[in-house]
Amino acid sequence: MVCLLKRYAEFFPLTPNTPLLSIGEGNTPLVELCNLGAKLEIELFAKFEGLNPTGSFKDRGMVLAVSKAVEEGSSGIICASTGNTSASAAAYAAKAGIKCHVILPSGKVAKGKLAQALIYDANVLALRGNFDVALEMVRKIADNLGLKIVNSVNPYRLWGQRSGAWEVCDEIGAPDWCVLPVGNAGNITAYWTGFFQYMKKGLIGSIPKMVGIQAQGAAPLVKGFPVPEPETIATAIRIGNPVNAKKALAAARNSNGMFLSVSDEEILNAQKELARKEGIFAEPASCATLAGLYKLKKEGKLPKNIRVVMVLTGNGLKDPQIVDRVTSSPREIEAKYDVLKEAILSC
Ligand code: F0G
Repeated sequence: MVCLLKRYAEFFPLTPNTPLLSIGEGNTPLVELCNLGAKLEIELFAKFEGLNPTGSFKDRGMVLAVSKAVEEGSSGIICASTGNTSASAAAYAAKAGIKCHVILPSGKVAKGKLAQALIYDANVLALRGNFDVALEMVRKIADNLGLKIVNSVNPYRLWGQRSGAWEVCDEIGAPDWCVLPVGNAGNITAYWTGFFQYMKKGLIGSIPKMVGIQAQGAAPLVKGFPVPEPETIATAIRIGNPVNAKKALAAARNSNGMFLSVSDEEILNAQKELARKEGIFAEPASCATLAGLYKLKKEGKLPKNIRVVMVLTGNGLKDPQIVDRVTSSPREIEAKYDVLKEAILSC
């Protein structure tokens, strides 16, 4: 497969000096979810971004942000992260041979994501404070130390992430709705911009309704004001003061879209449902999308027979600890034929 930067070269700000980094990002499957679609009485697709090289959608933006950082002569990059950005930044920095500093909210990052940043050899710092505080500090220090910030305040990040929308359109055209989990509000902005760009080029006729889902305890865009102490089991979107809030609100407004919030319980139920009915294991933040659709269905706000794409932003394997909360441990048995037989027949 041609690498993402080459495939969409005409849409990216590349120059002859941009190194075309790649570790196999993009080109993720758009899976039709027949079982859940039938239940919700819609045509439902999942863009499974958990199958990117570091297991999240961040790779689409990071590949461009790090390529441009190298082109501009940066010797290092820095980010604040709830986990996925740091995993992706660390991987692309490793590929490019530059230093990566990641600032994480201490104790609030899923184990798998932390393991990724460490194995890629980033300088991993656990800050006593939440993501919003971490990002504020990173924004203050980056320029002073000559480091390129690779959070979504870096325009190349969101530019790269537009490719998710382009891939959807290249495969099935513009859906009626596009549903995304929202934290720092970058990805929903990137998708809207991607759709908008395709419409301007005449490649699609209209922009999907952009539907952003937040966790109830971290829902500043639903409430209309920042949340000082955001809290949710979906740690990826545990964000109270999104830097892209204005752009995301405009994306929803301009597409007749909306924001809504779902509880942690609804998120965990949706995660189980997705795994058990469709065979897809996505991390909790991603499953907020399905929880949101269920909520809208219950409230009679989900039209029948529309085509919906939900963006499953991250892989469930990143956060195995959450599974302990929704399943029971395996039953240990003796290595005896009769015991095994009984265990199988009695289940
Ligand atoms: N889903 C996952 C799995 C994420 O990791 C994130 C954000 C989002 C959704 C929300 O996307 O911020 O563009 O609205 N993760 C960031 C991080 C904050 O540091 O990894 P957004």
